[in-house]
Amino acid sequence: MPLVDIKGMLQHAYDNKYAVGAFDLVSLDFLEGIISAAEHCQSPVILSLAESHFDYYNFKLLMAAAESAAQDAAVPVALFLDHGTRLDSAVRAINLGCNGVMVDASHQPLAENIALTRQVTEMARSCGIPVEGELGYVPGVEGEDAERHPGEIAFTTATEASEYVRQTGVDFLAVSIGTVHGRMKGEPQLDIERLQEINQALNIPLVIHGGTGLSDRQFRQLIENGVAKINYYTALSDAAAQQMRNNFGDDSRGGYTRLTTGVRDAVSAETEHCMRLWGSAGQAAAVMQTSRSWSPVEHVIIYNVSTISDSEAEEMMAKGRKILSAIPGVRHVLTGKAIKEEAKYRFCWLVRFVHPAVIDSYRDHPEHVRFADELFRPVAGDRISIDYRLTGESTLPAHKHVEKT
Ligand code: 13P
Repeated sequence: MPLVDIKGMLQHAYDNKYAVGAFDLVSLDFLEGIISAAEHCQSPVILSLAESHFDYYNFKLLMAAAESAAQDAAVPVALFLDHGTRLDSAVRAINLGCNGVMVDASHQPLAENIALTRQVTEMARSCGIPVEGELGYVPGVEGEDAERHPGEIAFTTATEASEYVRQTGVDFLAVSIGTVHGRMKGEPQLDIERLQEINQALNIPLVIHGGTGLSDRQFRQLIENGVAKINYYTALSDAAAQQMRNNFGDDSRGGYTRLTTGVRDAVSAETEHCMRLWGSAGQAAAVMQTSRSWSPVEHVIIYNVSTISDSEAEEMMAKGRKILSAIPGVRHVLTGKAIKEEAKYRFCWLVRFVHPAVIDSYRDHPEHVRFADELFRPVAGDRISIDYRLTGESTLPAHKHVEKT
């Protein structure tokens, strides 16, 4: 059961005072490096894909690879949208397989932050997906010098945080207590007392963005005071880039594969260092035991049509594929026609939901109701509909990782 519910994963970390790393990946080298580190030290891990990086890779393609790696992994994994900016981005991420999403409206005034975050939590809840919100502002950009993106840090207060969590219903809160994204000159000054107050007021797993550049002592203080998820990217990016510079040395004629040799191991080494430091190393088995395995649902309908021809049925199904696949929590909509003419039921829908919660929200979704009432049910009176929890996908043999020396 390697793909697991992130709520159980982070609750375990919160209760047992360690933090799970949410490592932003930007390529297959990062993906393989992060997974191999997690397997090597038996750590739960969050594969994080940040919307701010979508210019550098195809989100849909990298998600497919991340999901496949998660299913094959020998440790519990969650797939997370990092810094989603809109409701649409959260829906897209969920429909592509993320089982946790962040909505980041932290640069907006409080009322607007709450309004957008609440829209996302309502949608995500109807899909069974936990949400991380952010209150206060952590400046900077992942992977860059923070000095070049100064912005004003806006610190989170405990009173506002309580109100924000109450009004939005977020499951995890990213707080601003002095970290910045990217590289900083000098050690960041953290307001640990503020963190302590927020933790006492909320009692939910807290999240720190801008993990790069903190000292071992600071990480320990964060974890001691409720931080159960640490977002981390710039140091991985720097380790990868340094490896590439070393590969070239003085010879600038090497090709792509020569340039990228060893990047996976460099990412893996930095990731594993974090996992050991943050205490998640060795927790994989306990998280497997306490977290729900993430299993999608197949909504199966077999049916016959009356009053329309087969080609009209194909047209109706084509419309359905387009309309229904846009509903939150729908991974894909497949349609089929029986190979044998004499089959008892000649047509089918296979609609994949991300979670059992989608059974109800899909049924009641206005787009589904309209399509079903106007185009489908009038021509398909003879039908059987059953929801199946899928069990096979998470039980593949363990991922073979590259042994590290
Ligand atoms: P760093 O790039 O500073 O590690 O921060 C990463 C982050 O917070 C991603 O959300």
